[in-house]
Amino acid sequence: MIIVAHPMFLLLLFLSLLSSTGQMVSAKGKDNVREACSVTRYQSLCVHSLSHFSNTAGRSPSKWARAGVSVSIGEVKNVKAYIAELKRHGHMKGRNKIALSDCAESFAYALDELHRSLGVLRRLSKTTFSTQMGDLNTWISAALTDEETCLEGFEGENEKHVKVLQNRVQNVSYITSNALALVNKLATTGLGRINDP
Ligand SMILES: *[C@@H]1O[C@H](CO)[C@@H](O)[C@H](O)[C@H]1NC(C)=O
Repeated sequence: MIIVAHPMFLLLLFLSLLSSTGQMVSAKGKDNVREACSVTRYQSLCVHSLSHFSNTAGRSPSKWARAGVSVSIGEVKNVKAYIAELKRHGHMKGRNKIALSDCAESFAYALDELHRSLGVLRRLSKTTFSTQMGDLNTWISAALTDEETCLEGFEGENEKHVKVLQNRVQNVSYITSNALALVNKLATTGLGRINDP
């Protein structure tokens, strides 16, 4: 009887350990993302867009900064594709058509600046850290300005396509603002602290 029950008991014990560990990791993950996002301006958007990095980023400021910039790149690409779509379908006329072309250009710059930033975050080094932080601040701020520039120049805010585009651009500018805050947090924390490599 005992010999039969024994492996069963072990299995149950194993399964319950597995599930409790899973819960612990995810509860901890939630704390991690909330803590990381506490330095950002748009916190609920930050938690929403970065929560799936919780377990991998842990409490590392450099990993959170990277996650922030990666998510921003993804969203800039989405909006860039949407702008291209609007252009292709000729949805905007007159002044809005010009504004849309300016947007396409601004978003191309923003994407380039964010890619350069991600490149820096991938090869952080203690010896060039302050220069790297300076570059990141310059480029991410420039990307933010480029995104905000895209909001200007449109007329007829009640026009459906203008409205949708402006909402999406505003959203991506919030996400980029959050990424900048995560990078500034890294700049003040420095490398080699709080589980940073
Ligand atoms: C804003 O960005 C988040 C994160 O990428 C996305 O889930 C959401 O759909 C976006 N909202 C708008 C209005 O574009």
